[in-house]
Amino acid sequence: MTDYEENKSINKPFTLFNNETGQSIEIPILSGTEGPNVLDIRSLYKETGMFTYDPGFTSTASCESSITYIDGNKGILRHRGYDINDLATNSDFLEVCYLLLHGDLPSPTDKIKFENVISNHTMLHEQIMDLYTGFRRDAHPMAIMVGVVGALSAFYHDSTDFSDINQRMIACHRLIGKIATIGAMAYKYSVGQPFVHPRNELSYVENFLHMTFSVPTEKYRLNPIISKAMDRFFILHADHEQNASTSTVRLAGSSGANPFACIAAGIASLWGPAHGGANEAVIKMLEEIKDIKNIPEFLNKAKDKNDPFRLMGFGHRVYKNYDPRANVMKKSAHLVLEELNMLDDPLLKIALELEKIALQDTYFIEKKLYPNVDFYSGIFLKSLGFPTSMFTVLFAIGRTVGWVSQWKEMIEDPINKIGRPRQLYKGKNSRNYQNVDSRDKRSIFQWLWKK
Ligand code: CMC
Repeated sequence: MTDYEENKSINKPFTLFNNETGQSIEIPILSGTEGPNVLDIRSLYKETGMFTYDPGFTSTASCESSITYIDGNKGILRHRGYDINDLATNSDFLEVCYLLLHGDLPSPTDKIKFENVISNHTMLHEQIMDLYTGFRRDAHPMAIMVGVVGALSAFYHDSTDFSDINQRMIACHRLIGKIATIGAMAYKYSVGQPFVHPRNELSYVENFLHMTFSVPTEKYRLNPIISKAMDRFFILHADHEQNASTSTVRLAGSSGANPFACIAAGIASLWGPAHGGANEAVIKMLEEIKDIKNIPEFLNKAKDKNDPFRLMGFGHRVYKNYDPRANVMKKSAHLVLEELNMLDDPLLKIALELEKIALQDTYFIEKKLYPNVDFYSGIFLKSLGFPTSMFTVLFAIGRTVGWVSQWKEMIEDPINKIGRPRQLYKGKNSRNYQNVDSRDKRSIFQWLWKK
């Protein structure tokens, strides 16, 4: 039984008592369907004049949600009650999109309707395509994603009013449909190939592979094993509760910003190496390790408190057990490498060995650091021919449905308030303005430039 399971039965309010003043207040406890109970501190400031302090939100629930449930200690991830393994094995990406957006799996008729709706939103306005040429050829595709997705707000005025349910739904459908086209075109632009327009007779994933890899000079042959594995990759990345990028989307949306702007904010947040950029960082790390014999040196660096190096693809804020997505990702990577006759890929060998050694190392065992989804996704994507700079773009394509579902849930939540955290101020106290001539003559820049 985990700590929170023992505490789950406690539902009498907590009493917060101040020994010095004798003041006490009762803090109500709220229970979710699953997961830890939460202390409802909404009236804390009003009653005590104090805030809570929780950098990184390690103990803070920022909202109510019915979309995704994670039990990090047990390695459980469920969307709308369905286990990620079950979905990744038996479902398909668009069905999971429907599930996340609407709460249930679609009926056979709704499944077809939804597929049609999304495929009718895959095309981009011709002038959006002009935007690409404004970027340098060597622009990081995530920079293009942030720019182009943000720019959608300037093209689709009929779906930016979040207070209208129809506009909300159209915005969600547009974002899911167009994000794959935007990502594929970011790739095409970076390699100097012509844009390939979407083809509606293909499935979502086939269409994406076609737009990414086909060229006008020859017929592109879709490989069903690769299409299935790519579909699974998108399912594995579809949503992950209140992570940094999703919280960014919610925070941006809480001010009433339009959905396209909110998703652009989420993409920017995903870009960082501690979040979506980790799969790119894993490949860079494996390439740097170069040889199995160098693994101990890198493990020592990761364990050294004075060295900022971390083992990329290891550890997770929530999972203190194997990341359930990592298991599926590892199998997918294997299947694809086998199909492509790449099982003797040197990076795969280093990754397998690194995983084996790290999982036996006391540092990683004690800190509960296990491989996360990114550990194998980089190898998987590299084997398909994606450059590392595209890895986070692919994560963003899969995650867009999670972002829009969470955004929609927030807008429809009657408790919704503008997100406005407080702070523990450690700056200067009040002081008087000094005229420039009467200030200290030393320059901060001399010191900076010397460094
Ligand atoms: N390598 C070495 N040490 C680590 C690692 C790692 N990958 N991750 C955590 N630690 C250590 C860390 O130094 C700290 O040690 P100490 O207690 O001695 O100070 C302890 O473990 C706890 O780390 P933390 O930074 O407090 O944990 P966190 O929950 O804030 O960070 C994390 C989670 C994912 C940012 C971190 O594990 C990390 O940087 N991992 C590498 C990057 C990575 O793979 N990110 C992908 C996350 S999965 C994709 C997604 O869902 O977005």
